[in-house]
Amino acid sequence: MELTEKEISTNGITIKYYDEGSVGKPVVILIHGFPFNKLMWTGQIEILRQHVRVIAYDIRGHGGTSAGADEYTLSLFTHDLFHFMDSLQIEKATLCGLSMGGYIALYAVEQHPTRLSGLILCDTQCLADDAETKKKRFQTISSIEKDGLRKYASDSIKKLFATRSLLNKRNMVSFIERTILHTPKETICNTLKALANRKETCSRLHLIDVPVFIIVGSEDAITPPKLSIQMQEKISGSLLYEINNAGHLSNLEFPDRFNSYLLRFIKLIG
Ligand code: MLT
Repeated sequence: MELTEKEISTNGITIKYYDEGSVGKPVVILIHGFPFNKLMWTGQIEILRQHVRVIAYDIRGHGGTSAGADEYTLSLFTHDLFHFMDSLQIEKATLCGLSMGGYIALYAVEQHPTRLSGLILCDTQCLADDAETKKKRFQTISSIEKDGLRKYASDSIKKLFATRSLLNKRNMVSFIERTILHTPKETICNTLKALANRKETCSRLHLIDVPVFIIVGSEDAITPPKLSIQMQEKISGSLLYEINNAGHLSNLEFPDRFNSYLLRFIKLIG
């Protein structure tokens, strides 16, 4: 599929993005996980652009978006998103975020609830890191600074995919491994710090009053289904869909199932 990459400068960075489908239709913004980029959504853009205006962008430092000079925080990533929406004159959008993209979407609904028309939370969670996870992130930073990205990339893919996907979806696995290896070391280390320092969003989930779908792979080892169940219990009216045999990257591992939930959501918001 041919996608035209666009760029726009805002909040001290130049954001690279895809903007497909018709202007005037409801807007869905796809927010990628860490440490990936907008290309992880290609299989969703292909379908969504027939129904809505679909935008996928690279988060600061990832993909083609510049790194900027500010210290990375989840708040900064969320400000970038609203500046990006302002620059494109988008008042309201549905945010669909996977993992770190979901953390940003949950920050966004806290910061400016009226600018969201819906939320699709994929393989994500509302918890902050516990002490153990924080410690591991800082150990990972030291190991990357010392030895580079190769070990980090090969360790990561084992956790990102379901065991069956590691065996049967080799193209997808090597695409993700290459994506990690092409992400600048500085971006990975700075984002690991931002993730370790992020705050929880669970305590404000009950305030969300837009339609919410939660999607999770049954074999997601990073943000397992029990964390999605906890979110669903707190967000009134939200619906949870578990994708059998998928790991953390459910949109890449089972795109047809994943896309069918996106289309169901679009029908719901009309
Ligand atoms: C992601 O996929 O965005 C990351 O696994 C998030 C995290 O490490 O918490």
